[in-house]
Amino acid sequence: MVESILNETDSEIAESIIIRPLLNTDLPALEWDGEYLHFRNVFADVYKKVEKGTVKAWVAVSQDGRMIGQVFLQLSSERRELADGWNRGYLYSLRVRQSWQNQRVGSRLMDVVEDDLRKIGFTRVTLNVARDNQGAIRLYSRLGYQIVAEEPGVWSYPDHEGVWRTVTEPSWRMEKRL
Ligand SMILES: CC(C)(COP(=O)(O)OP(=O)(O)OC[C@H]1O[C@@H](n2cnc3c(N)ncnc32)[C@H](O)[C@@H]1OP(=O)(O)O)[C@@H](O)C(=O)NCCC(=O)NCCS
Repeated sequence: MVESILNETDSEIAESIIIRPLLNTDLPALEWDGEYLHFRNVFADVYKKVEKGTVKAWVAVSQDGRMIGQVFLQLSSERRELADGWNRGYLYSLRVRQSWQNQRVGSRLMDVVEDDLRKIGFTRVTLNVARDNQGAIRLYSRLGYQIVAEEPGVWSYPDHEGVWRTVTEPSWRMEKRL
């Protein structure tokens, strides 16, 4: 068994991973053993929006049931240049556990979002990426995204203890025509 896993190519590993919609019972596992504990309220809020139908969310799960990746998709926003409810969707919070990176899991999560948007008739997808995140910018460029604007990248959230925290991450807005 170990031998066959070691002999698998990266794309075979990516294929063996299950990507499925986020369930309510997944929320604790999104905290990645405490690394993302501070986002507990953010995840709960995402799930409320999933139930309302304004956000879609998918997770990547390994064959042995470990949560190894996630991606969220906002369908509408007051900022219509990000998501307008009928034509343009905003992809956010893409992440893959470090030990699973560079095995196409991130690309597969992106594919799932893009396919879903095509199915519901959207023609554009946007995302924000930190200007210093060269790896992610390279990935998005390879997948056909182009930089369309600068974003200040300032946002706030209540952490798991209810204390408001502000993140400042100067970003590029990137967009792809589907
Ligand atoms: C950005 C992120 C989600 C990418 O996930 P990933 O699963 O590593 O993505 P992929 O494996 O699909 O692609 C990444 C790299 O693997 C390479 N790759 C793709 N298919 C491959 C294959 N079959 N074999 C080997 N490498 C492959 C890609 O070319 C890319 O390389 P690059 O760095 O030269 O562009 C991940 O690095 C991450 O979670 N980072 C931390 C959080 C983050 O920055 N999120 C983005 C916020 S905007």
